[in-house]
Amino acid sequence: MIVTIDGPAGSGKSTTARGVADRLDYVYLDTGAMYRTVALGFLEADAQPSAHDAENVLPELTVDVKYSEEEMRLYLNGEEVTGRIRTPEVGSIVSDISTLRPVRERMVEDQRRIGFEQEEVHGGVVLDGRDTGTVVFPDADIKIFMEADLEERARRRKKEYDEDGKDLSLSEVKEELAQRDRQDRNRDIAPLRRAEDATLLDTTYKTIDDQIAFVVDRVKEYRPSGT
Ligand code: DC
Repeated sequence: MIVTIDGPAGSGKSTTARGVADRLDYVYLDTGAMYRTVALGFLEADAQPSAHDAENVLPELTVDVKYSEEEMRLYLNGEEVTGRIRTPEVGSIVSDISTLRPVRERMVEDQRRIGFEQEEVHGGVVLDGRDTGTVVFPDADIKIFMEADLEERARRRKKEYDEDGKDLSLSEVKEELAQRDRQDRNRDIAPLRRAEDATLLDTTYKTIDDQIAFVVDRVKEYRPSGT
């Protein structure tokens, strides 16, 4: 069973995807974390997010995903970096890195391989990202596209920042998200968009539990009874 959840930043994808994977004993594959790991690789190589630098950096760089107690761990060139990919430095270049064609080709190939391997082992995988239902797994069993009002997404993201001790105003967070949306939706390769056969889930007025239950119900409806 392959479940894809795509949508803009702050729509609640990762919390929902992780919750769905927990409830169904599937594994969660966070594709954004893989782009973040590549971005960290560029930073460590002192490289710019350009096609030219990608040519030099990518052949030398390996990204691996391992699961320990169902938790996804990221490895860059053999070293675990899970705790180092959510920094402002990585955040500031990851969107540019993710527009580079050779980076996307590598990631999509890796995500398909890991997805099928984990499906084999665990019976199901829940992926989240921007293109998991359109490009990575266009034949996924269940596709969800999550949306939420910009205002609400900014409030959620600001809460996360507050908890991390990052001091940004609501309007700054709103601008950051709006800019990232524009970039993700308007890029040439694999832009953020809803697949025609994806179910739209607007989370503006929904709780996390409602969101998880919504997706779990779709999976249960889809599966033959008793599985
Ligand atoms: O989900 P996130 O914020 O951790 O993603 C980081 C960046 O990676 C985001 O700016 C868009 C990009 N990304 C992508 O292009 N395709 C994906 N499938 C997942 C993330």
